[in-house]
Amino acid sequence: MDWEKVFATRSSRMKASEIRELLKLLDQPDIISFAGGIPDPALFPAEEFQAAFAETLGGKLCTTALQYSVSEGYAPLRQWIAEQMADLGIPCDIDNILITSGSQQALDYLGKLLLSPGDTALVSWPTYMGALGAFNAYEPRYDRLIANGNRSAAQYRETAAENNSRVKFAYMSVDFANPTGETLDLAGRERLLDLAADLDIPVIEDAAYQSLRYDGDAIPPILALDIKRNGHIDKTRTLYCGSFSKTLAPGLRVGWVCAAKPVISKLVLMKQAADLHSSTVNQIAIHEVAAKGFDKQVAKISAAYSARRDCMLAALEQHMPEGVSWNRPEGGMFVWLTLPEHLDGAELLAKSIETQRVAFVPGRAFFADGSNGNTLRLSFSQAGEATINEGIKRLGLLLKSCC
Ligand SMILES: Cc1ncc(COP(=O)(O)O)c(C=O)c1O
Repeated sequence: MDWEKVFATRSSRMKASEIRELLKLLDQPDIISFAGGIPDPALFPAEEFQAAFAETLGGKLCTTALQYSVSEGYAPLRQWIAEQMADLGIPCDIDNILITSGSQQALDYLGKLLLSPGDTALVSWPTYMGALGAFNAYEPRYDRLIANGNRSAAQYRETAAENNSRVKFAYMSVDFANPTGETLDLAGRERLLDLAADLDIPVIEDAAYQSLRYDGDAIPPILALDIKRNGHIDKTRTLYCGSFSKTLAPGLRVGWVCAAKPVISKLVLMKQAADLHSSTVNQIAIHEVAAKGFDKQVAKISAAYSARRDCMLAALEQHMPEGVSWNRPEGGMFVWLTLPEHLDGAELLAKSIETQRVAFVPGRAFFADGSNGNTLRLSFSQAGEATINEGIKRLGLLLKSCC
């Protein structure tokens, strides 16, 4: 069977991601990996989940947990999320919340809901590659979202028109972004809303890392600013995608969308058609653990990750040669490195694995046009401090030999 002949055209843009190939390397015990942007399993609230599952399956919620459920999600969890959202300046009710199987599913649904083939998606440059992967299936073209306002709505419209396209949404990971670790400041958020209003398009606010702030002042979510402008969540254009993956447990696959009711209603229909609902038992367990100790868990992981971030920044300062620069993220899991122009992150990775046994993600994979080869993403979430220091020292040695 020649499968290529029967695959739909949209599948031609589904490609194996560099990051997935890389994750396979994590199994080799001698590799120091700064590649995977995933939580440290030692920090999972494992006992709390053990108790939550035992209580759920051993008590009166057992049949609810094992039965089919509503597509919107487990109501007590949606209620808990609505209260959290209110604390972030987003007053809403549970009908503004849809539970998804991770925020990755929300990105897929939003691509499906908003993109026809050839439409333009404005994305940050670089972008979370999983978002590009999710949107690619809906065959968009991409344009560079410049949130600091030096490209006007008319210019975006013109570029789209030149390509027989129209701009459909702006997507951005706004807090401690994947991959750069950077946070869009308040003025940038307001400008992004101005641009979206001028273009009359939705903003997809990817808030996967929102809770992981280690220092600096919290900045209101774009959805909160949108509500301030328009008076009520049901009058906003921002589609907020949240996740429990970075704070509680990614394996349970629980995330959410918070948005105006007309969008949520449409997404509910989409979820019904796609998978009926997210795992009920997992939603119940997430609710139990979050309701009993979400803040405590966030404080625990923030203390560990901020120490690792500081350790990585100090090691970079000590070991990197001239010509290499990096940012100082206020939270999240990533530091973004820029190398001298002539270096290529992918070639460097091959050398690094062979000679130094250190892994990272080459930056090119995060650019919709495959540019900026001289960048790379380092994650500090998984390695202990001694390992971070050793890994950065080895990477520095390699870079000194190439710079
Ligand atoms: C920016 C960003 N958005 C969304 C996701 C998807 O996370 P999940 O589906 O586990 O909620 C990730 C995962 O790494 C991410 O980095």
